Order: sequence, then structure tokens, then C-alpha cells
Amino acid sequence: MTDAVQAPGAESRFTPRVFSGIQPSGGLTLGNYLGALKRFVEMQDEGTETVYCLVDLHAITVWQDPDKLRHQTREAAAAFIAAGIDPTRSILFNQSQVSAHAELAWIFNCITRLGWMNRMTQFKDKTAGKNAENSSLGLYAYPSLMAADILLYHATHVPVGEDQKQHVELTRDIAAKFNHDYKVDFFPITEPVIEGAATRVMSLRDGTKKMSKSDPSDMSRINLTDDADTIAQKLRKARTDAEPLPSEAAGLKDRPEARNLVNIFSALSGQSVDAVLQEFGGQGFGAFKPALAELAVAKLAPISTEMTRLMADPAEIDRILGQGADRADAIAQPILAKTLDIVGMIRSR
Ligand code: AMP
Ligand code: TRP
Repeated sequence: MTDAVQAPGAESRFTPRVFSGIQPSGGLTLGNYLGALKRFVEMQDEGTETVYCLVDLHAITVWQDPDKLRHQTREAAAAFIAAGIDPTRSILFNQSQVSAHAELAWIFNCITRLGWMNRMTQFKDKTAGKNAENSSLGLYAYPSLMAADILLYHATHVPVGEDQKQHVELTRDIAAKFNHDYKVDFFPITEPVIEGAATRVMSLRDGTKKMSKSDPSDMSRINLTDDADTIAQKLRKARTDAEPLPSEAAGLKDRPEARNLVNIFSALSGQSVDAVLQEFGGQGFGAFKPALAELAVAKLAPISTEMTRLMADPAEIDRILGQGADRADAIAQPILAKTLDIVGMIRSR
């Protein structure tokens, strides 16, 4: 166990358990890999109990074609395994196979205050410039389902990218209000774990926008399914400025595109940003981009090759998800049952 995962407070009665989720609402990107998946693997390898969930119920908060959703869920499972998640050590499953998620989310809908929800910036971002009246109630309630995902396992630590910090803070508020209202110490106050050189990977076309699976431009992101040539081409064409790279991190301050590429290099190589700049400071992108492309291909192409191999046997992926769901359910059911008991529901069968 590293510094990242320690019992949350010496007096806490909760055993360390890691939970995180990714939406299968499109193919996974380099942002998902560096902001989430890479950390998921490290936490598994540190020996903590790890529960990882493909949150298909979250994905349908915006329209998903049913066949595509099934395909993307299997592909995300393949990405997890290809990146190093071992389904015999971690629990890997899709959310909708464990119905307790939806049930606990309802209880939390009754705990969560509208005022808290109205402050959620992701909802505001996702509806900005669109007709908010026409977005789903599910999209609005999404953070309450996320709190249910986490607290259903009494998870103490949640590795996520920067964009999910506010949702984990809301999860803490929900746990604290539940404990307070029912005078119990039942749900842990979960810690977000936001670490690494690339907790916010930006678009390759616009250094002020997050790299996202939902960006209309495929050139804006590296998909985990991209082959070596595509990865190299996207990085060569990534938007940059005309200046050479600085020798120190401070010199990247007002250069979002340059900073993004250096952060990606740092995260993929495991070197600090300063070490990367010591090597490349003073050089232009003509030298840096090919080095970055070579590194990215070396790290990512094996993942995409392994994903292709795994996707040839979808029945095996479904079997793994089913087994994961059985194991998840065994943890979730007693916690849901106790929650229903605490809130005053009759349990007579
Ligand atoms: P999502 O794709 O929105 O389900 O995100 C799954 C996980 O990947 C979450 O922990 C996100 O914070 C993380 N993530 C998504 N996009 C990025 C990005 N561009 N940079 C860093 N982390 C990201
Ligand atoms: N909301 C997260 C995202 O979009 C996905 C998610 C759902 C999640 N449930 C979770 C992440 C629980 C961590 C823990 O990235």
C-alpha cells in the first residue's frame, strides 16, 4: 500500500477499498488512460482491494444506440484487461448487472438537496449552449448515482481525473448527511485520489478543452483503439505554438498546447515534467513531437493490439463481467439491505 491509499483517519473503521468507474459511452481515450486506467492498474498492483465498474447506467443519461452501447461496454472491458487489470484480482463488471446501484441511488436522491445538484459544473458544461429543458432527468441526477456506486462498496478511495473531483466531494456530502440524519456512522467519507502528471489531458486541437470521447473531431484525441500509424500521425499534427520548449515548467504557464504535450510525455515516460524539459528545453516541436510519438506508440500500441485480440471473443468478455458482477453483488447486497433497514423499510422476505 502506498501513501495514496491509507485508512481514512486512524480511527476509521472502514477497510481501504478502491472503487472507480468509466462510462462506456464511446471508445476510451488517452485521457481516460492517463487520468484513470493507469492509476487503476497501479492501485490493483499495490494490493488494495479494487472494484472497477463500466457505468452503463450513467452512459444512457444521454442517448446511446443499444447495439453500440453493448459493443462499447465490451470494448471498455477489453481496454481495462489490456491495460493490466486482472479480473481475478480486481472486480470488473458493468453497473447494470448489479441492481443495488439503482436502488441505492434512489435513496440518495432523497438525501441530496436540489441546491447541491444545481452547483454541479459537469451538468452545466454538458447542457451549455443546448436546450437544458430537453436534457434527461437522469443527466441531472447522475452524481447521485455516482455516489451510490461508490458508497455501495463502502469505498474509501476513488481514483479519478480532475473533472470528477466535484462529484466525489458531493459523495462525501451525501455520506455525511445520511450519517447525520439517521444518527449512524454507516457510510465512509471517501477520498478522491487525483494523482499523476496528466490528471487533465487536453484536446490535441485546442489546449483549453479536455480530451474527450465525445469531441466531434477524432483528431482531437488518441483512442485506445488507434493503431501505431494513427497515434503517430495525430501527435505530429497536434496543434502547438512556434516557440521552442522552455527549460523549466514555469515557462509552460501560458502555453496550454505545449504544456499538454509535455504532460503527456511525462505521464507516459514516468519522468517528471522538469526532467522532460531538461532533455527537450530549447528544442522545437520538430524534435519533440517525433520523440513523443515514438513513446506513445511504444506504450499504447500493445494495448490496442491486445484489445483487438480480446474483442475476438465477446462471450469470454461477457463471462468475465458476469463473474465480476457476482462478486460485486456479494459485497453490495448486505450494504444495501442495511441501508434499507436504517431508513425504515420493512424487510420481511
Ligand atoms: P469518463 O470517460 O467521463 O467516464 O471518465 C472516466 C475517467 O477518466 C474519470 O476518472 C475521468 O476523470 C477520467 N478522464 C476522462 N477524460 C480525461 C482527460 N481528458 N484527462 C484526464 N482524465 C480524464
Ligand atoms: N462520472 C464518472 C465520469 O464520467 C464515471 C463514474 C460513475 C465514476 N460512477 C463513478 C467514477 C464512481 C468514479 C467512481 O468520469
